[in-house]
Amino acid sequence: AAYLIINEPQKGEQWSNGVANRISWTKGLLDGVNAFDIEMSRMSVDGLIYVASAVPVNPPSLNIFMQDVPAGDDYFLLFVNATIGVKYGTSPMFSVRAASNATASSPDASAPTVTISGAPNPLSVFATTFPPSANGVALPGYKALQSSMPQLMAMTAVMVFCLLGGAMTVL
Ligand SMILES: *[C@@H]1O[C@H](CO)[C@@H](O)[C@H](O)[C@H]1NC(C)=O
Ligand SMILES: *[C@@H]1O[C@H](CO)[C@@H](O)[C@H](O)[C@H]1NC(C)=O
Repeated sequence: AAYLIINEPQKGEQWSNGVANRISWTKGLLDGVNAFDIEMSRMSVDGLIYVASAVPVNPPSLNIFMQDVPAGDDYFLLFVNATIGVKYGTSPMFSVRAASNATASSPDASAPTVTISGAPNPLSVFATTFPPSANGVALPGYKALQSSMPQLMAMTAVMVFCLLGGAMTVL
């Protein structure tokens, strides 16, 4: 389990709505893994918030701007490949505070920021999907198809991905 070390959020860390909260990690022996999907869940409530899909392993951090995520002290993050149903790591439990009760945060200025909103939901889709080029993996077939029918292909790929992701998560 030392393949992926999640440095932040730490156990009991306070995240807040209305600010960007920092996730950071150290990749260990995950040979061949260039990206992962990040999901957020609660111990007490079924369902997931799909934070971001195909997050490049480097830079090893990501900022999460939260809106309307219910306050609670039992949130945790899952680092997975939702397509093939593999889990790389789970963060310790952390808290989410209301925007009206926010604490100061220190986002990583060099890392991307994604926005999530609402409560964990079994039917939600990834808020952000990073493009294939972002993780350095060349997918010539995908690109060829995409250039012939850009909108349709992109939408189909996202929908299929989300359906698969949802099914795998439920399993
Ligand atoms: C998940 O695994 C599949 C099969 O190895 C791979 O094609 C895909 O890129 C992986 N997903 C991410 C987000 O890296
Ligand atoms: C502010 O957040 C803390 C920590 O989650 C919580 O214990 C407290 O009840 C919150 N206060 C209000 C007014 O929501």
